[in-house]
Amino acid sequence: MIKTILFIALLLNVVQVTLSSVVSVGDFNKDFFITWSPNHVNTSADGHERSLKLDQESGAGFASSKMFLFGQIDMQIKLVPGHSAGTVIGYYLTSDQPNRDEIDFEFMGNVSGQPYILQTNVFADGFDDREERIYLWFDPTEDFHTYSILWNLYQIVFMVDWVPIRVYKNHADKGVAFPRWQPMSLKVSLWNGESWATRGGHDKVDWSKGPFIASFRNYKIDACIWKGNPRFCRADSNTNWWNKDRFRSLTWSQRRLFRWVRKYHLIYDYCQDNQRFKNNLPKECSLPKY
Ligand SMILES: *[C@@H]1O[C@H](CO)[C@@H](O)[C@H](O)[C@H]1NC(C)=O
Ligand SMILES: *[C@@H]1O[C@H](CO)[C@@H](O)[C@H](O)[C@H]1NC(C)=O
Repeated sequence: MIKTILFIALLLNVVQVTLSSVVSVGDFNKDFFITWSPNHVNTSADGHERSLKLDQESGAGFASSKMFLFGQIDMQIKLVPGHSAGTVIGYYLTSDQPNRDEIDFEFMGNVSGQPYILQTNVFADGFDDREERIYLWFDPTEDFHTYSILWNLYQIVFMVDWVPIRVYKNHADKGVAFPRWQPMSLKVSLWNGESWATRGGHDKVDWSKGPFIASFRNYKIDACIWKGNPRFCRADSNTNWWNKDRFRSLTWSQRRLFRWVRKYHLIYDYCQDNQRFKNNLPKECSLPKY
């Protein structure tokens, strides 16, 4: 009898751990709901591809129906082709709380022929001011590329086609805030950010060049689904593969790529902006990056 109960308990435990993580099906209609302007959203018949439109009337957006605590998220994105000045695409995880945690990709458009900027930011416990910006090493409007977030207890890694472009390491033991308590949902939107996005707000949206369309496809959400108990998500199990040793810091080849990005593609790093922080840079700036 006791053996049976123990066995069932064990089985339930296994089932629960298994269910707490998912390799998503890749169907936008199943994993996301439209949060903003359904008539500016197009989804392919099989649900694998979706596009958002920005015109004078509205932008558009969608959000995951589940929340996650740690995992890896990949999304293929094709940015607005041609003239895209003033437009912004956000692809981010957010806890939507007053003291919010957030992990952001923001793509800032440009006038025709000029480069997009990819800005990343991290909010931890309500504080952000952690922008980094890069130019991409390819034209992101010509084809789909994969933009990923790896998030575990040890680090947050932003990747573009598997190249780590940014690492935000967990330095909580040194008093630096790190997103690790609040579950987050995944959100995507296309909107008018002309007041700041392109050359600091100099180039506005040119509506005569619209509508502006960005496309998304083949996403993969391999993350721990929030069920109210962080224990399952923090566990180092086979399902929670992102918590395993080899994902706790960059590998040697990732480090090489990361240094290459910083050397040739970085155009802004808050950690180098002494003027903005009045020579009092945030604490993490003097700690190891990876
Ligand atoms: C959706 O498709 C229709 C027909 O092809 C097109 O007119 C509309 O602009 C598209 N909307 C988006 C958001 O791509
Ligand atoms: C747009 O192009 C200008 C000129 O090349 C460049 O300075 C700027 O960084 C580019 N991107 C954005 C988003 O402003």
